[in-house]
Amino acid sequence: GTTLGAAAAESGRYFGTAVAAHKLGDSTYAGILNSEFNSVTPENEMKMDATEPNQGQFSYGSADQIVNHALSRGMKVRGHALAWHMQQPGWMQGMEGSSLRQAMLNHVTQVATHYKGKVVAWDVVNEAFADGSSGARRDSNLQRTGNDWIEAAFKAARAADPNAKLCYNDYNTDDWSHAKTQAVYKMVQDFKNRGVPIDCVGLQSHMNSGSPYPSNYRTTLSSFAALGVDVQITELDIQGASPTTYSNVVKDCLAVPRCNGVTVWGIRDSDSWRPNDTPLLWNGNGQKKSAYDAVLSALNSG
Ligand code: G3I
Repeated sequence: GTTLGAAAAESGRYFGTAVAAHKLGDSTYAGILNSEFNSVTPENEMKMDATEPNQGQFSYGSADQIVNHALSRGMKVRGHALAWHMQQPGWMQGMEGSSLRQAMLNHVTQVATHYKGKVVAWDVVNEAFADGSSGARRDSNLQRTGNDWIEAAFKAARAADPNAKLCYNDYNTDDWSHAKTQAVYKMVQDFKNRGVPIDCVGLQSHMNSGSPYPSNYRTTLSSFAALGVDVQITELDIQGASPTTYSNVVKDCLAVPRCNGVTVWGIRDSDSWRPNDTPLLWNGNGQKKSAYDAVLSALNSG
């Protein structure tokens, strides 16, 4: 393949990027998006604050713009994210208990219903585990509604859109020995054992140049896959954009049959949420970096 999307498609995978609706009119941005990628994830437009700014009033304009752009060009859409402790609308931030639980479930139901048939995979719950060595759930207003809030969200999403793949998505889950990775693994294993609907695990994979690329990354991918879920690399960016690290990530995904797609978290370095880290595949002028060549050749060698 001569583009990332085409090269990934040769092994039945997708190669995607986070997209911001307000950049679709930038011809450099849209040109790269349309030629190189076959999957998109709205970077902010499907989050709870964007889609339900007032309780019970849903707002889909900018998310629909991205979805229409993608579907009219044959790209897939990953939905991000139905329930999260961050980016909650103001009205939700102060809620608690059963009213919050009900509001969260209604949100999941409404948004998943609106995008029924259009979103191939949803990040149903995002970032629900704590950092550090505890392996515990992260404290949040959602967590305080009861430990079963995650499975309740997955059940609501399944009922609303039975054909969408339902994912749990988190960061700092690349290293297999990390407590957070193990905690997510145990949750997914428990869900599979009890028949809670879950189809995929998203590893965000925001990587830093200071902490070495985990040599057990492939073990992490294959261990999740062995539970009977797909694994997706959902928000890849690497501080400094080491071509070797990018290549290793892609090769590890290709080595695991159920790792079915990679999404980078933005197109140009200037589009990144961490622009000073120059972590992406194109520079601010829209020129391909050496990390791009490394990714393309890794995809083509699979
Ligand atoms: O759109 C407003 C603009 O009107 C306003 O003037 C400006 C002032 O602050 O803010 C703009 O909104 C910002 C938005 O990005 C759009 O640029 C928000 O403040 C800012 O918080 C938001 O950041 C996003 C962040 O999630 C929010 O948590 C980043 O773009 C987005 O890349 C980042 O993505 C997350 C994933 O969803 C989950 N995993 C981690 C990842 C990186 O943090």
